[in-house]
Amino acid sequence: MGLNTRIEAAIAHAVEVGQGRTATPPKLAKALEYATAPGGARIRPTILMSVAMACGDDRPQVSDAAAAALELIHCASLVHDDLPCFDDADVRRGKPSVHRAFSEPLAVLTGDSLIVLAFEILARQSAQAPDRVAQLIMTLAQRTGMPGGICAGQGWESEDEIDLSAYHQAKTGALFIAATQMGAVAAGQEAEPWFELGARIGEAFQVADDLRDALYDSETLGKPVGQDDLHGRPNAVTELGVQGAISRLKDILGGAIASIPSCPGEAQLAEMVRMYAERLTPVVSSQRVPGE
Ligand code: IPE
Ligand code: IPE
Ligand code: MG
Ligand code: MG
Repeated sequence: MGLNTRIEAAIAHAVEVGQGRTATPPKLAKALEYATAPGGARIRPTILMSVAMACGDDRPQVSDAAAAALELIHCASLVHDDLPCFDDADVRRGKPSVHRAFSEPLAVLTGDSLIVLAFEILARQSAQAPDRVAQLIMTLAQRTGMPGGICAGQGWESEDEIDLSAYHQAKTGALFIAATQMGAVAAGQEAEPWFELGARIGEAFQVADDLRDALYDSETLGKPVGQDDLHGRPNAVTELGVQGAISRLKDILGGAIASIPSCPGEAQLAEMVRMYAERLTPVVSSQRVPGE
């Protein structure tokens, strides 16, 4: 089974658990699927699985659960982020956002249900590997909530003064740190040595996201663009310019590769980060220039 197929199967299975077999509210059940499939780039579960495989992947069901749980949290964060009280976005992944397709109450409940489901999916593996599961739940909780998770990241947007590095680390970096650390833990390894790789990939992702927001059109991205300017948020392109941001992206990814802890699959993992770097780096010639 290819990696993508494996990830999709794990997510689909998790959503089926959330939908249940007995009488459930049909719209909410449908919204869980709508919010999670078809997905976006699935970058976080891909990183998680790649690290798990590099570390031996000796409990594949635990890795599957970890990958699904992490992507459920990410999808939940997008559903809530698009709500009128946050970014008020009508489009996500090229289709109407969940509150536009269903309703605001159902979008709030979809996000809530996906967050809770993520932890249930992990807890269901506790008979297999109780110590690993306890640590996976802990890591995912810390990277999701307060004080250092995506809730904290989104919370910074309600402050008058934003600590930019804390904001980015919590909003975007947190789930990439969760990805590398949960991959290692799912395969029975220590989490700590994998912090740096996750943090650096997260930082690179943030710079790439700033570039995409400034350079691409909404059709290409499948979501609104120009959001950073619109909300007056500081970002890498206003700070460094387009070329400056691109060289910064390359520096960070070089550092990411250098930080990979030694493990049986180290070489393949470095190759994966290199491929990811190619995908993240925009081809500048074919884009619109900001402001035009
Ligand atoms: C978008 O993440 C949200 C941010 C953290 C900037 P992705 O770009 O990974 O979204 P999908 O999952 O591919 O749609
Ligand atoms: C997405 O953040 C939500 C979280 C990371 C929690 P953004 O608002 O910056 O990303 P997009 O542009 O909507 O995907
Ligand atoms: Mg937002
Ligand atoms: Mg948004």
